[in-house]
Amino acid sequence: SASVNRDVAFNLGTNINLTCTNKTRADIVFIIWEIHLKNKNCKISFVNDNSGIDSCKDGKSIQKTSTGQLYLHVPNLSADDVGLYKCESVYNGGNENYNIKVAVTVPPVLSAWLEWKGNKIVALCRAERGTPVANISWSYGGSSEPAVKTQLDPDGFVTVESHLELLEDVCPEELTCIVQHRFWDQEKILVPELRE
Ligand SMILES: *[C@@H]1O[C@H](CO)[C@@H](O)[C@H](O)[C@H]1NC(C)=O
Repeated sequence: SASVNRDVAFNLGTNINLTCTNKTRADIVFIIWEIHLKNKNCKISFVNDNSGIDSCKDGKSIQKTSTGQLYLHVPNLSADDVGLYKCESVYNGGNENYNIKVAVTVPPVLSAWLEWKGNKIVALCRAERGTPVANISWSYGGSSEPAVKTQLDPDGFVTVESHLELLEDVCPEELTCIVQHRFWDQEKILVPELRE
């Protein structure tokens, strides 16, 4: 049968379960997970006669629910587990193929501060090494639109920094930086303080 493509994202450190068929163990002839990660490719399989293989050797395993469905268990999701998980399951009467793209959601490290730039004050707000990219906004407008710098690291983490040049009549104590990221249910609010 044709492959089904799926995109999924989970929080860093969570235990995840990937399913590629709802057939139960009694009907399964075999299941193979072919896993393409940044640093390695490996396979984990379940075969009806119990001769499954595991070339990943990193804690991933095929497990069974109480109702007999088989799924791939990935404990403690890390950036190393990001990749393409291709599953083929063959059962009595058919087969199913899934291509599941697994992403990890990692919260950025936040900081905010004020700096003198000539005779102006600039507010900076930084969301460091998160994924996906964080969204930064300000409680007040500045003398112009904030300048946003985004840096993508080779390992997939993104740092975003917003610079806001303050208007002369804005009292910096009232200024806050608002950061939104998929990892958090609620936005984070930071008060930038003057740095020497
Ligand atoms: C999960 O992985 C992280 C980093 O790889 C490690 O520091 C942490 O102890 C692990 N947690 C569990 C519950 O195994």
